[in-house]
Amino acid sequence: MTEFDDKGFRTRLSHGGRAGKRVHGFVNPPLLRGSTVLYPTMADRRALAARRGEQVLTYGLGGSETHWALADMIAAIEGGTRAFIVGSGLAAVTVPLLAYLKSGDHCLMPDSVYGPARNFATGMLPRFGVETTFYPPEIDEAGMAALIRPNTTVVYTESPGSHTFEVQDIPAIARAAHARGAKVLMDNTWGFHFFQPFAHGVDVSIQALTKYAGGHSDLLIGSIAVANDAEWKTVHATAAALGQYASPDDCWLCLRGLRTLAVRLDAQMAAGIAVAEWLRGRDEVAEVLHPALPGARGHELWKRDFSGACSLFGVVFQPEYSVAATHAMVEALDLFGIGASWGGYESLALPTTGFVTRSAGTGEFGGALVRIHVGLEDVADLIADLEHGLEVLRAHRE
Ligand SMILES: Cc1ncc(COP(=O)(O)O)c(C=O)c1O
Repeated sequence: MTEFDDKGFRTRLSHGGRAGKRVHGFVNPPLLRGSTVLYPTMADRRALAARRGEQVLTYGLGGSETHWALADMIAAIEGGTRAFIVGSGLAAVTVPLLAYLKSGDHCLMPDSVYGPARNFATGMLPRFGVETTFYPPEIDEAGMAALIRPNTTVVYTESPGSHTFEVQDIPAIARAAHARGAKVLMDNTWGFHFFQPFAHGVDVSIQALTKYAGGHSDLLIGSIAVANDAEWKTVHATAAALGQYASPDDCWLCLRGLRTLAVRLDAQMAAGIAVAEWLRGRDEVAEVLHPALPGARGHELWKRDFSGACSLFGVVFQPEYSVAATHAMVEALDLFGIGASWGGYESLALPTTGFVTRSAGTGEFGGALVRIHVGLEDVADLIADLEHGLEVLRAHRE
């Protein structure tokens, strides 16, 4: 929590996590790097050790002002109490899974889950005696209740899915999970502050801060946020035991990214919706997977639970356009780069058919898929670029 928690979002982003007078009045917090921490006396060591609860501050792994400034801001943005900063979004996925699962447990994951999270569940967790079942992401409360076994300890969620954008009914899933003693973990990277995880029943919120928080495609970082002491102790114990840590340089850069997060997100939301609406009007496009568009899949749930949208969405092309045709199309674009990740200031277009693994029979949209990330360029220029891309696509029609 920060002293600005009662203020508006933009004020909190501007004033949170600053050291003020402690660093001679400089606006920004210091960038502290270090392994060894010196303590003049053993009494000082005890005082240090008590400063942030169980976080060991007598050695660099416990973090520094730089880490805690970021951690406290993320916890506040998500409406939680504390957050742990790790070196990547993927680490923010795997640490809580390890924290809440033990040998003999069962985990539920949405079929639309981020690929490396699926790989962790299918490749790593079985080595520790944990079984995972993939469920249709648009499941309702009764459907979820039916899947939960006596040994299900984790119901993992990601809403919307970052390739196919299924919106999950998180409160319903959380009710089913909590009634049976399971914890709800959520990858909240797409929603970020537009979705308040703890107000919707989530126990542990995961963020790939690499995306919009960093905002400049120049760092990798993740956070694990919680809303009470018990969850904090569970998450912290595992993160610390695994030696999880993030570079203070990346924390500092991410803090800098947060200062402009609200304006970037608002601009990118508007631009993303404009580009998505334009694509939706094109004959080549069968469907646009963007929950903020009226009439789109998941729109009603999005409207109920989210206060905004980021600028990542999917496009399904008409069946006469092959995957190869979409490859030719994205290669013809000048302003949209072909690349993974999202949340930076630059636009991206990534063909995703064939990238996405499914095992619960979901994710079929009847046409080749391209994922679009809209950056901070002028919308008119982006649309002109896409117009040209669609010409190339049409030239490859079957
Ligand atoms: C939804 C989602 N979660 C987690 C991650 C992992 O983040 P990172 O790239 O920082 O490991 C990504 C990255 O693309 C993602 O899209």
